Amino acid sequence: MSPDVHGEPSRLSRLGAYPFERLKALLADSRPNPELVHIDAGAGEPRLPLPDFVGPALSESLAGFSKYPATRGNAELRGAIAAWLEQRYGLDHVDADTQVLSANGTREALFAIAHALVDPDAERKPRVLMPNPMYQIYLGAAVTAGAEPYLMPCTPATGFAPDIDAVPDDVWDNTALVYVCSPSNPTGWIADADWYARLLTLADRHDFHIVADECYSEIYWRERPVGLLEVARQTGRSDYARCLVMNSLSKRSALPGLRSGLIAGDASLIARFARLRSYTGPATPLPLQHVAARAWSDEAHVAANLAVYRASLKAFYDARGEGEPPAGSFFVWLPVDDGEAFAKAAYEQQAVTLLPGAYLSADATDGGNPGNGFVRVALVDGPEVAAELAQRLGAVRV
Ligand SMILES: Cc1ncc(COP(=O)(O)O)c(C=O)c1O
Repeated sequence: MSPDVHGEPSRLSRLGAYPFERLKALLADSRPNPELVHIDAGAGEPRLPLPDFVGPALSESLAGFSKYPATRGNAELRGAIAAWLEQRYGLDHVDADTQVLSANGTREALFAIAHALVDPDAERKPRVLMPNPMYQIYLGAAVTAGAEPYLMPCTPATGFAPDIDAVPDDVWDNTALVYVCSPSNPTGWIADADWYARLLTLADRHDFHIVADECYSEIYWRERPVGLLEVARQTGRSDYARCLVMNSLSKRSALPGLRSGLIAGDASLIARFARLRSYTGPATPLPLQHVAARAWSDEAHVAANLAVYRASLKAFYDARGEGEPPAGSFFVWLPVDDGEAFAKAAYEQQAVTLLPGAYLSADATDGGNPGNGFVRVALVDGPEVAAELAQRLGAVRV
């Protein structure tokens, strides 16, 4: 890799600043309205009480800090993950030894997976497909792994679905990997069984892998989202061929500081990824793996969290008096004229921090950016704050 003019490796220099750095720069010369209490609806960090079992589970496993943890995750955690997947998605069997890995938070795993599945030395530069807007990690992963990102616009015109029928065969033929985000951060779109089934058919036909980021699977407005492994099994792929899913305790259990997630699916892809990970070593400390195993084994706290997210979405839309909650996630993808101008005005006039939609998307080849006319509002502080947010945002004047 040749260094570019700034002395950075050239792939890295193709990446822009991360959304929150861009937000900091946007607001650098602004001050939040001092007459109001500041509300941070920018970051997607759940702010809910710690589940009861966390303290006891941590203290009973403290001795584990004296040992190196295995990167793959210990048997207790992988077993709990496999059992959760089987129960949640009605799967006959998930093999805890060959079809499951622990992730040190899914962010690192979503990034690293492209490095395991893309061959940067291929004769034709491989494609990595992803939604646009997207969780920015997919883009960073594709670029640094030596692939060419291919963006599937998710707009009101597509119902915020990545339009897989619009992707030319020539692109599919050269695709190594497709990232799916369902429920989607930031749009709230959820893949249905038919959409996943069509993608699986394309994967068989054109020989590519699917990585489904299902971190928001337990946060939904009405229907509980279907999962990629579930559809794979329903369509006769009981070995989950070509499929990997990632999920996280950060959102489901409101434990973003635990840094624990799961990777599961096709045993051959798991083996390939485990090999890469045996070098990079993103292991989760053993006491935290014990807490994580408990969290995958308990649904009561997840149901309680879901009730708060639903109440927050309802409070926001009731106070707003228009629009519909998203199908999934705790984000509102709010249409505005100009996302950056709106975010700046919301901060200065109403002491609200939001993310401009353009920071969560990329410029398309036609020059447009599907995030320009949106801001992302995270409803992570409960119903009262959600209602207050709707009122304050309704008062913003650009
Ligand atoms: C869509 C999506 N995927 C993955 C993650 C990563 O979560 P974690 O690394 O905490 O598991 C996030 C976090 O915000 C996210 O929004």
